[in-house]
Order: sequence, then C-alpha cells, then structure tokens
Amino acid sequence: MQLLSRRLAAQGKKIGFVPTMGYLHEGHLSLIRRAKKEADVVITSIFVNPKQFAPNEDFARYPRDERGDIAKIRKAGGSIVFVPKAREVYPDDFTTYVNVEGLTDVLEGSVRPGHFKGVTTIVAMLFNIVRPDLVVFGMKDFQQAVVLKRMTVDLGYPIKFIVAPTVRERDGLAMSSRNKYLTEQTRREALCLYFALRTAKSLVKSRVTDIRKIEKEMRAVILATCPSAKIDYIAFADIFTLEPRRKLSGDIVVSLAVRVHGVRLIDNMRLG
Ligand code: PAJ
Repeated sequence: MQLLSRRLAAQGKKIGFVPTMGYLHEGHLSLIRRAKKEADVVITSIFVNPKQFAPNEDFARYPRDERGDIAKIRKAGGSIVFVPKAREVYPDDFTTYVNVEGLTDVLEGSVRPGHFKGVTTIVAMLFNIVRPDLVVFGMKDFQQAVVLKRMTVDLGYPIKFIVAPTVRERDGLAMSSRNKYLTEQTRREALCLYFALRTAKSLVKSRVTDIRKIEKEMRAVILATCPSAKIDYIAFADIFTLEPRRKLSGDIVVSLAVRVHGVRLIDNMRLG
C-alpha cells in the first residue's frame, strides 16, 4: 500500500483517504464522495480494529461484508480499497501506541477507557501507510474527529483534515453500522436519540438558555420514546476543546450515548 501511494504521489496524484471499519452505509459513502471532490484518487480502508474495542464490547460480532463494501466503494468513486489483516497490523511483538491526552478523558472516553488510544494508534499507522494528502471523517463521531484532528496537527502530518456532516435515515436516525443490531421494534425506539437532539435544538431556537432544563427535557423525550433506555451521558461541549459548557454561548455541540435494548448508540447536533 505504501509503495502504491508513493507511486501515485510521484505521478502528481492527490490522495484522499477514508478510514472505515466496513459494513458501509451512505454515511461512509458520503465521505468517499467528499474526498473525491478534492482528490485524484480515493483510498478507503476497511479494518475492524480490535484495539479500540474493550473486552466486553462487540468486536467479535461487529458486522462484516467485504464484498458488498467493495462494490459500494467502487460505485461511490473510490478506486483503491485497503484491507489489512489483523496479524499484519498487530504482530505479536507490537507495543507502540499513540495517545491524545485530555480530549480523550471526556464524553466517549469517560465511558470507554482505552477506546481512543486504539483509534489514534490505528489511524496514525494508516496515515503512515497510505500517506494521504487529505482525509475525511464524519461528524457522527464528533469527538473522534476532534481527537484525530488534534493528533494530525500535533504530530505534524501534512494532511488536510475534513469533517463531513452526519448522514441520517429519512426519519432522522443517524446511519451506523451498529444499526444492524436493531430489530424493527427497537429501531423505532432508537429514534429517541434524534428526537432528544431535535428537542434541544428547538428549545434553543425558542431562546431557552438553561442547559439543565434542556437536558431534563431531553431525558424525558428519550424515556417517552424508549422506556428501557439507559443513558450513558448527555453532554454540552465546546466544539473545539470539548470542554463542558454550563451556559449556551458560542459553538456548542450536544452529544449523547444511549443504550437501546442493549445496543449502544451515539449521536450529536450542533447548537451554536
Ligand atoms: P466507522 O465507524 O466505520 O466510521 C468510519 C467513518 O465514517 C468515520 O469517520 C465516521 O465518523 C463516519 N461515519 C459513520 N457514520 C456516519 C454517518 N451517519 N454520517 C457521516 N459519517 C459517518 O470510525 C471508525 O470507523 C473507526 O474508529 C476508524 C476511524 C476507522 C478507526 O478504526
């Protein structure tokens, strides 16, 4: 892969890169199309990264469909698919990690310790192998985008970092490979995340500024839609620093993680 990238660069080709864990949906494909706008060649990686899953998480049952993915990538305009094998990526003597401090202690990081260390390590490695000129990540995983942007700047990667909007189903559910775990019934209840975000947005529009009140309303909406929901967190944070906000001012993102019948879903919306 690295040799191929070097050759492309020598030919003056601009390389766009979209890392994924596969089981692709329109959200992923929108990133490939976005990359295609600015790059001559778009490389997509598919790798279900064991190091970003905790032992109690869904690594073993994470959905996979390599053949279907490759067809979708081709249709979206991606010309190269990189599918490394786990033992090539992580040989037995592998001991080096990349860790972004601070930004990874909050939100997802507070509930999934070690998760972002796995993400930054694999993405740094992929950057070194693929050597892209630009990369596209999804706002769906807002904290991941902030953390990886920080890593890109701090480690001096000469890469343009693009964050693309969240693609949703027609009824508002954010697209996610994990939606496959939902049944017809639980999928309807999974809309609780989107309904809560919309509630927050409309309260802000009607000039409610008390974050505690907004959060209370969001919790009520979630439980009305999915009575058995387990809310990991609802958080209001600065879009750049991820610092928690008590008052509504500037660029704020409200993000939440909810377990719907055992399926852990995340979503977010910009309020500022
Ligand atoms: P994965 O969950 O497969 O997501 C790959 C990329 O697609 C991420 O940038 C994610 O934010 C984006 N994405 C997912 N759902 C989206 C949606 N509905 N709309 C727009 N973009 C969406 O994120 C990962 O994989 C991994 O952590 C990875 C970065 C590949 C490292 O292993």
